Amino acid sequence: MSQRPPLCIGLSLAITWLTGNGWRRPDSCVEAIHASSFYTAIARRAEAACLDFLFRPDTLYLDTRVLARSPGFSSLDPTVLLSAIAASTTRIGLVTTAATTFNPPYVVARQLQSLDWISQGRAGWNVVTALDGNGNFGDAPMPPSKARYDKALEFTDVVQRLWRSYPRDALVVDRATGRYADTARVRPIDHRGPYFSVQGPLNLPAHGAGRIPLFQAGASAWGRDFAARVADAVFAAAPDLDACAELRQDLRSRAAAHGRRPDDIRVLPGLSLYLGRTASEARDLYEATHADTDQACRLDYLARMLGIDVRQFAPDQPLTRAMLGEPVTTLRSQTHADLLRRLVEREQPTVQELLRRPETGGSAHWRVVGTADDALREILAWADAGAADGFIALPGGSAGSLDLFLDELMPRLVARGRFRREYAGATLAAHLGIPPEN
Ligand SMILES: Cc1cc2nc3c(=O)[nH]c(=O)nc-3n(C[C@H](O)[C@H](O)[C@H](O)COP(=O)(O)O)c2cc1C
Repeated sequence: MSQRPPLCIGLSLAITWLTGNGWRRPDSCVEAIHASSFYTAIARRAEAACLDFLFRPDTLYLDTRVLARSPGFSSLDPTVLLSAIAASTTRIGLVTTAATTFNPPYVVARQLQSLDWISQGRAGWNVVTALDGNGNFGDAPMPPSKARYDKALEFTDVVQRLWRSYPRDALVVDRATGRYADTARVRPIDHRGPYFSVQGPLNLPAHGAGRIPLFQAGASAWGRDFAARVADAVFAAAPDLDACAELRQDLRSRAAAHGRRPDDIRVLPGLSLYLGRTASEARDLYEATHADTDQACRLDYLARMLGIDVRQFAPDQPLTRAMLGEPVTTLRSQTHADLLRRLVEREQPTVQELLRRPETGGSAHWRVVGTADDALREILAWADAGAADGFIALPGGSAGSLDLFLDELMPRLVARGRFRREYAGATLAAHLGIPPEN
């Protein structure tokens, strides 16, 4: 048995295996994606593999350019969906997404606490500052990334204080005396801050003794600082081992600077898995999935992220750092802009090559195109190099990749002593190894 800490492994329910041409496969079941049964069937299989959690990213807008060609992010509300999944599962953690830029904190605190009750302590909150969608919440323009994190910090603090405002043991429930609750223990939070005024207390008791784990994603300097203060886990966009190792080291140092233990923050890169029974089957799957990429969309994305129109260069001309000019400050995601720039600086791809890369389609995740054994080797290499504490699986291309992840890759990780055979606890905090007092 390995002495190394076991990996922390989640599965994204963002139906990544239906993106690109994946949904066009005859067996994709794409017609079922708005039925909860589609997800509960996957959730039960993920729970049978003892995964730490299911993870549902979310946005609050509809990109019709994406919708014309794929399901994209048009989806069920994640917290409602995970509540349905909670009823069909007993152990697996359920991480929902709620944006701090648009929602009121009282509503989010109540939704998360409700999910924690419905799932008996299995809720997690992926705290996002959102990429777009301001038009659905009024007339204000989208605030820049840094301002969104300032608001997120206050939002998160309010939510956590609301969770503590009505502790479970304030419930007396004494039928003999008629005393239902010790209201001296249920206190307002009386918050007045730059962004929110919230009186409290929450109108729902906390479910458990432990708290609801927080996840985060953006990796700009201010995104990292936010994560270092509050996050238990970070969903990292990291295309290569070096990028992830740098991020993990930096987050651990920042966490320590905020008085936390470095191990309090778990770095979980997204892992795109295009899996086949053979390496060539996997390569064919990858090629077929991305055969019809929308060039116009990609050129627009590059212009926004790099600040240049690459159409001015010949398709076979390598791009260099000098051609990029000054780094762009983007409203949406500094993480994705920085990763794209890093890719050009490191690899100097031609325009043609760059347009074929998943990074120009908005994804900058670690990717394995190969067999379950290839994926196993990569995962162990990243973990052993200190680049990751685990990963969030993003199966790609077809449901076959999801099957191979659950049926072939997970048992190999268990056999190597790098993942649990059975659940030891029943809450998400327990799966992540968060001590009760933390
Ligand atoms: C890997 C990754 C995943 C993200 N997932 C979501 C999401 O599901 N929903 C959302 O509204 N924003 C999401 N975001 C956006 C972030 O919450 C944040 O608003 C954005 O990245 C800007 O922060 P940054 O400048 O630090 O990148 C994600 C960002 C990254 C990097």
